[in-house]
Amino acid sequence: MHPIEKFLSVTGSIALGIVGYNTWRFISFHLALYGDRKLDRYKSKSQKSWAIVTGASAGIGLGYAEELITRGFGVIIFGHKLEELQQAEIHLRTISDDAEVRIVKLNAITASSTDIENALNEFKQLHITILINNVGGAVSWPFYKPYTEHTASEVDNTINLNARFMAQLTRILIPTLSHNSPSLILNMSSGSHMGIPWLCTYSAVKGFNASFSRAISREMKATGVAIDSIVVYPGDVHSQANTSGLAPFSPSSRQYAKMALDRVVTAVSQGRNEMSPFWMHGLSGVLDFTPEFLVQSLTKTSLEGKLKAQEQMMKVE
Ligand SMILES: NC(=O)c1ccc[n+]([C@@H]2O[C@H](COP(=O)([O-])OP(=O)(O)OC[C@H]3O[C@@H](n4cnc5c(N)ncnc54)[C@H](OP(=O)(O)O)[C@@H]3O)[C@@H](O)[C@H]2O)c1
Repeated sequence: MHPIEKFLSVTGSIALGIVGYNTWRFISFHLALYGDRKLDRYKSKSQKSWAIVTGASAGIGLGYAEELITRGFGVIIFGHKLEELQQAEIHLRTISDDAEVRIVKLNAITASSTDIENALNEFKQLHITILINNVGGAVSWPFYKPYTEHTASEVDNTINLNARFMAQLTRILIPTLSHNSPSLILNMSSGSHMGIPWLCTYSAVKGFNASFSRAISREMKATGVAIDSIVVYPGDVHSQANTSGLAPFSPSSRQYAKMALDRVVTAVSQGRNEMSPFWMHGLSGVLDFTPEFLVQSLTKTSLEGKLKAQEQMMKVE
């Protein structure tokens, strides 16, 4: 064979192999072919296992709490409004006869690490194996606006809500999760971690969530601690915060939480430290290989619907 033919044949086979491997990973992940959908990996055989979910009085966090109860976990739900937490607790108790629910009222923007430690003292006897760092969102109105129109406190509050709180809570809980391992930390990032205009601080903190989660995952593996840390990248999901101008086929909060929990053990068994449980959101991964001028124009087009929806909401107010 001519050397050029040989070179093309070898590189072609490698490229095909890579495409085949990634296609298999994509399909087997989304079908959760060899998944432990009940999350038995994180359950003790001798006692009830518990999950902490932050921002769980509504939206995706409430969806996670609902789904964890159906899988037999007790849930400790964090939120900042007592009445909403109590309503969520009443609702969660209707899901199953043996549902166990505790509530923690803490403002994730302002709570100090001492406040978090004090709140967790109450649960020392519980066998906690899952932490879902879900609380987050852009603390600004309007949601999309030029960076310089954000106030100083909008910038600080967005960082505190999305980044500082989860970093402190994780630091405090790792010894417990390590003691009760195998355990799971699920961190909610967002497709916007790529950098969305008019959403600069939020995009940036979602990047923090992602690199923090991957770093924790690698540190746990390097030190032989059986804590799985997975970052999740949602696109549009119907929630309390996201109600208009959503992309077609966007899932509900409960559907999204179910997809994530159904697939998380598959993700772990595939050696992943990140996932997009809804396949349509996963397609945004191609943007990593797309030339910047195309990303720029796609971002602008996809934001147009959202900016229109925001304008409508502002007119109604
Ligand atoms: N929905 C989406 O399309 C989407 C897309 C990408 C990423 N995400 C990420 O997914 C996560 C959940 O989003 P979501 O849309 O489900 O949010 P959501 O509907 O706004 O729900 C947020 C939850 O957090 C609570 N919360 C808000 N501010 C708080 C504070 N200062 N202290 C404590 N709790 C507070 C809310 O309680 P109250 O109801 O009492 O305020 C609510 O329970 C976030 O990290 C978000 O960035 C969502």
